[in-house]
Amino acid sequence: MQFFIDSADVGEIQKALAMGLCDGVTTNPSLVARTGRKFSEVLKEITALVPGPVSAEVTAVDHAGMMKEARALAKVADNVVVKVPLIVEGLRAVRSLAAEGIRTNVTLCFSPVQALLAAKAGATYVSPFVGRLDDVSEDGMAMVSQIVEIYRSYDFATKVLVASVRHPVHVLEAARLGADVATIPFAVIGQLANHPLTEIGLKKFLADWEKVPKE
Ligand code: G3P
Repeated sequence: MQFFIDSADVGEIQKALAMGLCDGVTTNPSLVARTGRKFSEVLKEITALVPGPVSAEVTAVDHAGMMKEARALAKVADNVVVKVPLIVEGLRAVRSLAAEGIRTNVTLCFSPVQALLAAKAGATYVSPFVGRLDDVSEDGMAMVSQIVEIYRSYDFATKVLVASVRHPVHVLEAARLGADVATIPFAVIGQLANHPLTEIGLKKFLADWEKVPKE
């Protein structure tokens, strides 16, 4: 299972790389806006820093506009994956981009049937948003489970990239379901290694070590 970091913050990405927990990066317009920096600069920096795939999102909502933006984004670096919204025009663009050899990440997926359409269009990744579905009293991970089941049944090559991850249990469930990737906010990456009993146990070991006669 791959871990991507869901961030456009270069500092966070560097820290995740140093932890060995950054197989790739996903960005979106909201994350880029949070940096207060120009998207072109941020994207160049991230793609140079990270050897793995870096998702960068188009903002056009029509096929022609998406194609224009996607081609420009793909030119920035070889590891750019173009993020396209899961709308009819987006699916058309995914099909055209696949024919041009440009990798895509279909974003804003909220149902297994939408994910089926993304796979049929030839998406490289599909991003089911689990946290946002949980927010409206639906079950985000149940959606992922059905997507994995459908993709396995038909041997689709599209990878399941669990997005809108809010806490470690989302990561655990994504791993149990066999999702290909989870894209994780930096704060949640930090939480993954924590366990109160590890902390208590370490404190006790270190305190006991003080009692051991030293040479
Ligand atoms: O990158 C898309 C997704 O991960 C957004 O997450 O927390 O804004 O729902 P969130």
